[in-house]
Amino acid sequence: NQLKKELNKLIEAAPQMKQDKFRRELDGFASLFGRFLEEEGPSVEWDKIQKLPSNAVRDYNTLETPTTDIIHNMLSKLVVIKLNGGLGTSMGCHGPKSLIAVRNDLTFLDLTVQQIEHLNKTYKTNVPLILMNSFNTDEDTEKVLRKYKNLNIEIHAFNQSCYPRINRETLLPIAKNCIIDEDLEAWYPPGHGDFYKSFQNSGLLKKFLNDGREYCFISNIDNLGATVDLNILNLLLNPKDNVQHEFVMEVTDKTRADVKGGTLIQYENKLRLLEIAQVPKEHVDAFKSVKTFKFFNTNNIWAKLDAIERVLNEDTLKMEIIINNKSLPKGLNVIQLETAVGAAMKTFEESIGINVPRSRFLPVKKTSDLLLVMSNLYNLKNGSLVMSPQRMFPTTPLVKLGDNHFANVKEFLGRFANIPDLIELDHLTVSGDVTFGGKVSLKGTVIIIANHGDRIDIPSGANLENKIVSGNMRI
Ligand code: UTP
Repeated sequence: NQLKKELNKLIEAAPQMKQDKFRRELDGFASLFGRFLEEEGPSVEWDKIQKLPSNAVRDYNTLETPTTDIIHNMLSKLVVIKLNGGLGTSMGCHGPKSLIAVRNDLTFLDLTVQQIEHLNKTYKTNVPLILMNSFNTDEDTEKVLRKYKNLNIEIHAFNQSCYPRINRETLLPIAKNCIIDEDLEAWYPPGHGDFYKSFQNSGLLKKFLNDGREYCFISNIDNLGATVDLNILNLLLNPKDNVQHEFVMEVTDKTRADVKGGTLIQYENKLRLLEIAQVPKEHVDAFKSVKTFKFFNTNNIWAKLDAIERVLNEDTLKMEIIINNKSLPKGLNVIQLETAVGAAMKTFEESIGINVPRSRFLPVKKTSDLLLVMSNLYNLKNGSLVMSPQRMFPTTPLVKLGDNHFANVKEFLGRFANIPDLIELDHLTVSGDVTFGGKVSLKGTVIIIANHGDRIDIPSGANLENKIVSGNMRI
C-alpha cells in the first residue's frame, strides 16, 4: 500500500499529458513488484526438471526451404524487431550500443537497416523494421533514424517501459518525481521481457495485426547474425504437420565458452528458458554442463502476434523475475526487477526450439567480440557478416583482451592502427599496455603480455605466428 501511494505520488507529479503513459507503466511495475513480494523460494525446483522430449528442439538442417513463389507472401506476414534499449555499458559506452561503428564506419543500426533493405528489394516486399528503444537510447537513436528517411524502408520505434529503482532497505522508489532526465539513476529499463507489454502499449501490435502481419522476429541489435531466416518462417507459416508453433527460440550448441547462457528445459510439461540467475547454488555446476544442457538461447525469438495479444489480454504472461541488485555511485543499494524475452516461452502453445548454426549468433558483448567482427574474418554482404572463405575452419578464434587497457571501445580502437589480419588466428591473449601498428598479421596462438609499467608496441607489418611476446622484447 505504501508503494502504491508512492507510485501515485510519482504519477501525479508527472506532467499532465504524460500521466496516462506513466500510469500504464507503473501499473506494470506494481504488478511485477507484487509478484516479487509474493513469490518465495526458487522459481525452479531442480528435481522437477524433465528430460527434453525428442521433438522439443528441431535441427535447423531438417527445415524445408520455401519455393521462391511463396516467399513474397510469407514476408508480407512478418515484422522484424530489434532490441535496442541497452547501452554498451560493458564496453564503456555511454550511448546506445547500436551506434558503435562496426565496419567501414557503418554501425549495428546501419547494417540492420541494410539487411532489411536488401530483403525487401530481393523479394519486392515491405517488411517493417521496429526498434524497441528505452529512455536511455531513444534520443540518440531518433537522431540517427532521420538519415534513413529517404530509403525505401518502413521503420518504427517505440519506447519500452521505464521502471523506478527500489531502495533495498525501504522497498520504496528512490525517485522524487517523474522527470526522468533530472534523476536518471532513479529509473531503469526492465529487461527485454518488457517487449510484449510495451509493444502492445505502443499501439504497434494492434496496427500490425490489422495490417495482416502474423509473426514477429525479435533479436538483439548487436547480433548481426540474426537475419530473417526464410526456412524458419516457412515452418511457422506453412507447417507440414499442421502444428502451429506460437513461439520459437533459436538455440545453438553450447560450448565451454557459453556455460553461463540461458538454456532450454522441459518443466511442468512445457518448454521454458532457464537462466543461470534462477539456478539454486548447489546446481550451478550441473547447469553449466555442456552434456546435460546441450543448447543455449541465442535470443533470436519468433512469436505469433495474435498469441502475444491473447496472453497479454488474458494476463497469463508471467515471466520469471530476474532480481538485479545494484549499488549506485552515491552508495545507495537498489533493486531492479527485470524479465527476459525468452522467458515467455512457457506461456505459448506449441513452443519449440530450433538448433541453428552458430553463425546466427554473433553477439558483441565485449571489445574482443568487436575485434572479430571488425576483422577480415568476415566479409560484409548486404549488411550481413559472412565468414571469409579464406578461413580454413568455421570456428572463430578465442580472443582475450586485458580489462585494464582494452575494455573500453575508445581505448580499444586507439590501440590498433588498423585491425590485424586474423584469418589464421586460433587464440590471442593480450594483457597490459600494448599497441598494434598497421598491417599486423596474427596466426596460430599469440600471447602478448606487457608487465606493469612496460609497454609493447607491435610494429607495422609484424607477422606473429605461434609467438609469446612479453616484457620489453623487440619483435
Ligand atoms: P543484454 O542486456 O542481454 O546485453 O541485452 P547487452 O546489451 O550486451 O548489455 P550490457 O552491455 O551488458 O549492458 C540484449 C539485447 O537486449 C536489449 C539490448 O539493447 C540488447 O540488444 N535490451 C536489454 C533492451 O532492449 N532492453 C533492456 O531493458 C535490456
